[in-house]
Amino acid sequence: MSKLQEAPTAYTFDDFIIVPQHSEVKSRKHPDISVNLPGFKYELPVVSSPMNTVTEADMLVTMRQIGGVGVLHRYLSIGEQLEIVEDVYTRLSDAGFPSVSEGTPAFYVAVPACRDLEERVEELSRKGVLGFCVDAANGHNERSVQAVRAIRRLNPEARIMAGNVCTYNGAHRLAKAGANSLRVGIGPGSMCTTRQVTGHGLPQLSAIESCAIIKRGMNRFLPDGAYDGHEEAFPDVAIIADGGIRKSGDIVKALAIGADAVMIGSLLAGTKETPGNIIEENDRLYKYYKGMASNEARSQYSGQSTGVPEEGVSKKIPYTGKTARKIIENLCKSVQVGLSFSGANNIKELQKNAVWQKVTGAGYVEGTPHGK
Ligand code: XMP
Repeated sequence: MSKLQEAPTAYTFDDFIIVPQHSEVKSRKHPDISVNLPGFKYELPVVSSPMNTVTEADMLVTMRQIGGVGVLHRYLSIGEQLEIVEDVYTRLSDAGFPSVSEGTPAFYVAVPACRDLEERVEELSRKGVLGFCVDAANGHNERSVQAVRAIRRLNPEARIMAGNVCTYNGAHRLAKAGANSLRVGIGPGSMCTTRQVTGHGLPQLSAIESCAIIKRGMNRFLPDGAYDGHEEAFPDVAIIADGGIRKSGDIVKALAIGADAVMIGSLLAGTKETPGNIIEENDRLYKYYKGMASNEARSQYSGQSTGVPEEGVSKKIPYTGKTARKIIENLCKSVQVGLSFSGANNIKELQKNAVWQKVTGAGYVEGTPHGK
């Protein structure tokens, strides 16, 4: 057999549909979509991307207020990150949320896999930060594994989010190193060019399914087919499907195939809470949405090295005039309806009940608006 003939097929959201099931769910508002990201329960399974055109103080405050998770981006000096953390603490405590000493403020701060990682983690830990996100384009790299270990050593209480990975092996390695949640997705994001530039990645639905296997562990077989034991399972490590979410149905599919939460950039870009100026051109309002590996995003961060190939693009997008709060609340209402279609009262039941069918190109088109 040739390598290509043996190769499995990888799928993304639009390749599959979930078939409706008999439902005894009381109302469309009934399904519980709360999620446990190790150490803290969140009302909504939505995480805002650590991007410098998505998550700074305003987004962090909104995400906490609506019960989701925000991740502060890392294209900031340590001092700048500390200042934002302080500002968010103050605003949340003014809004009646528990202070750091009373309970976790429940947001994450992105840190690089190397460079000033240790200093950053030490300083942020001193400020009471518990959530750290090892932000690397390729979490299959040993550097990410070492970064997770370093954070665990520096702050044994830390909740460590790590990534990005797209395979069982990548996920398993980071979980074994001590990560509590994993960002899954290499190249599905709206601003990503990783797959174009490197020829590597994996369509997102398959990536989520593969990584989620770490929750139950995997049986190992030797090349001759003999059973070689069961790999350690990590039932409590959360899977965060990162990138490529364009509509609420994609969130439902990501959760149904094994994600605990989704990470979103593009759907939040251009909202009131994102950093960056509003630009007026020909009576229209815009904001920038920049791939973090685009030259435009990197150049905003002075310490960032130049000459590294770009793996992202940057775009001026219409300013929505809406709040991220409104957008996420609407998405989540639709996700609840999605759960009810599978007769599910919560995400666990959705994962158990979901019946999948592959769709043809014609089948997909039929499901999009096509009236005359
Ligand atoms: P969406 O589709 O929501 O995806 O816009 C957001 C996610 O995209 C990733 N990201 C990038 N990936 N090059 C990449 O290959 C980039 O420049 C880039 N910027 C962001 C990231 O995982 C984010 O959460």
